[in-house]
Amino acid sequence: MKYVLEGLGFYLPEKLVSNQELEGLVDTSDEWITTRTGIRTRRYAAENQAVSDLAFAASQAALRDAGLTPADLTHILVATCTPDMQLPASACFLQRLLGAGPIPSFDLQAACSGFLYALEVARGLVNIQSDAHVLVVGSEKLTSHLNFHDRSTCILFGDGAGAAVLTGSHPRQERCEVLDIILRSDGKMADLLRIHSGGSRFPFRLGQEVSPEAFITMQGREVFKHAVRCMAEVASALLERNGLLASDIDLFIPHQANTRIIDAVASRLKIVEDRIYTNVQNYGNTSAASVPIALAEAWQQGRILPGQKVLLCSFGAGFTWGAALLQF
Ligand code: ACO
Repeated sequence: MKYVLEGLGFYLPEKLVSNQELEGLVDTSDEWITTRTGIRTRRYAAENQAVSDLAFAASQAALRDAGLTPADLTHILVATCTPDMQLPASACFLQRLLGAGPIPSFDLQAACSGFLYALEVARGLVNIQSDAHVLVVGSEKLTSHLNFHDRSTCILFGDGAGAAVLTGSHPRQERCEVLDIILRSDGKMADLLRIHSGGSRFPFRLGQEVSPEAFITMQGREVFKHAVRCMAEVASALLERNGLLASDIDLFIPHQANTRIIDAVASRLKIVEDRIYTNVQNYGNTSAASVPIALAEAWQQGRILPGQKVLLCSFGAGFTWGAALLQF
């Protein structure tokens, strides 16, 4: 069975927020943010833009790239940890916005690894129905879950969406083939990075004051350490399973969280600098959207040429992590 990505697209909201602007909100500096994270700017969605709106714009771009219309879609899968609402799924809002048929539409939550998880689920769907056209989207509005009094987290994140369409037999066109994917998780470290309240464990109570626990909290140093170890391990395992060396990879597109994490992973894998794609400096960490945005942008910029091999890799809350191998 062949798994083909027919089209790629992404969307970033207009509002650009610089480190200097954050200096006015919390006790931080452009110098601290740039040296510790590599981030210089990020994009913030408008008040009236939810995850499905960002996903809609990215999906339209991916469908255009694929030469498909919403009527061609057979499934919609949205990877997000910041859905429009607790209920229903953002994928249903996206189905409505696209005007797609009454096709299965659902969300998947694997934090920053969401897109790779969704891609693997989409491969399963294509395995069942080889002429399926599965819309796979990573979309996040992290800014709606940020505590803008917590300088250790609010500087890191941005909003955006990336999308792709996966099929098996008779692709409309062939951007690339998904050769292999490995996914992993370890719930022992679930408490290191989370949004504690608002779920069934610690539900909101009527009239209760909103506490910092309702927003994203993180033990940054621990997350950093595990992110480097896990991403390097899973990427190595994927290369080995496919009989490849790091030098066989033309472009490495890791989750865009922090340039120091990216550099440490690439160094462990022995991937040279000019084969690493980064845009975290422009967009910050967009969680499940980071990998599909970077993939679509790298393709559009001509950083990936037909015949080349691309290695995707991600890590996020859960912890969840994974790697994927693409053949353009
Ligand atoms: N501006 C200025 N100072 C700050 C800021 C800030 N924005 N944030 C924290 N500090 C201070 C801390 O208070 C601390 O001060 P102290 O020494 O007086 O106590 C000091 O800087 C060092 O803090 P650390 O947290 O130890 O700094 P570190 O070098 O670890 O960098 C960072 C912090 C950037 C969060 C880093 O740990 C990191 O990138 N971790 C990975 C987290 C991540 O990317 N998570 C995203 C989700 S998971 C994922 O996508 C992979």
